[in-house]
Amino acid sequence: PLPPPYQVPLPIPATLEPVSEGRYEIVQRETRAEILPGVRTSLWTYGGTFPGPTIESQRGRQITVTHRNELPVPTVVHLHGGRTPAASDGYPTDLVLPEGWTGHEGHGMHDHRAVVTELTRDYTFPLDQRPTLLWYHDHRMDFTAPAIWRGLAGLHIVRDDAEEALGLPAGHRELPLMIADRAFAADGGLLYPSLDPALRERPGVTEPYLAGVLGDVILVNGAPWPVHEVDAARYRLRVLNASNARHYELEAVTDDGRRLDLVQVGADQGLLAAPVTHRLLPIAPAERYDLVVDFSGVPVGGRVRLLNRLGSGRTRDVMAFRVARRAADDSRVPAVLSTDLPGWRRSDAVRVRDLAFRTGRVHGGHGWLIGGLPFDPARADVTTRLGDVEVWRLVADVHHPVHLHLVGFRVLSRSGGPPLPHDAGLKDTVSLRPGESVEIITRFDGYRGRFLFHCHNAEHEDMAMMANLEVT
Ligand code: C2O
Ligand code: CU
Repeated sequence: PLPPPYQVPLPIPATLEPVSEGRYEIVQRETRAEILPGVRTSLWTYGGTFPGPTIESQRGRQITVTHRNELPVPTVVHLHGGRTPAASDGYPTDLVLPEGWTGHEGHGMHDHRAVVTELTRDYTFPLDQRPTLLWYHDHRMDFTAPAIWRGLAGLHIVRDDAEEALGLPAGHRELPLMIADRAFAADGGLLYPSLDPALRERPGVTEPYLAGVLGDVILVNGAPWPVHEVDAARYRLRVLNASNARHYELEAVTDDGRRLDLVQVGADQGLLAAPVTHRLLPIAPAERYDLVVDFSGVPVGGRVRLLNRLGSGRTRDVMAFRVARRAADDSRVPAVLSTDLPGWRRSDAVRVRDLAFRTGRVHGGHGWLIGGLPFDPARADVTTRLGDVEVWRLVADVHHPVHLHLVGFRVLSRSGGPPLPHDAGLKDTVSLRPGESVEIITRFDGYRGRFLFHCHNAEHEDMAMMANLEVT
């Protein structure tokens, strides 16, 4: 019983209150919620809701989040886009164990030992980084994709005074939008083709889903094809693609078929130098775009649909905005948004690396490889020195959204040509299109230790498309 589009109100995830200054607690637990009207869906959640509660923090103000695991399997928390010391970065074998766990500690496709195992775990985030929209999600070895699918994802917004002073739309005119597709059974249960539905021992998905799992229901903030009432004014949309494998190409279309400008003010890792205007905006899994959309030219009672040009049938619809009233608007989009973007040049790089993201055999089955190798926690794939600037040349067979932990990077080129308009700013995830090569540049700043880079198609990631990044 799928609802018609644009009927369910857009939920806004609650903001998590600290238990004391800089300290937060989240209990990971199962719950049942009404996502599709009239049926209940079992979920794995952070704090009882999907998405989990949003953490709002200030740049440079360290916080600690204590996670307790009341789910039936081990979990790992990663703050995606966070500049986080290795001990709190959610390495896939740094497990938070549930009470009484007797299963294997992640011996699936890969042979390894869990490094840290606790019933609760404190994650410390210095947040010494540019303000932006981050998200936290599960990162357990071999089982990340089904755990996110079941609901283990939430938002985290980092702010600072300089960004507040810009005058971008704020308050109720700033909307976080977590877009994620899911598939449901008739009884409301989530459908996911795990080889081991208990997610205890055997990782992976059934053969037809090796390329990634797609759903036919588009959720925004956990609601199917929702609608949101807006003023005829500018809104700031903090968009995240939290889908496991689905790519979108977003457009905002009025009832009379006009496309509104999507004015991009920020990328994965914060504000651009200057706004970039899009009519169509591709967004790959784990990417974020900070957009300003102006509804002032839409008549009261009119509707603006956010559509996915890559979808067909129901997956073409995403959500809608219904313009409810005229209203004053003193927000602005300044011509200069930030002046602190790193301007690394090729000549700054002390190393150039070639990394191929391709399909291959993993332990006798189908998998996904980086540089010809499946993930192995015991191997350092890339070793770099703190402070070094490097250029990475990434090549892909099929679509792979490539994500680096710890650092933001800039896109230098695509297939020998210039970057695309949506590559602007500082990124932490870059969408490699089929057959494409992309050059990125970064400085390995922040912390020494063992981090990761991987494909953020979550099924590819679980099927070994992940590698270690050692910063020494
Ligand atoms: Cu969004 Cu390694 O993660
Ligand atoms: Cu991939």
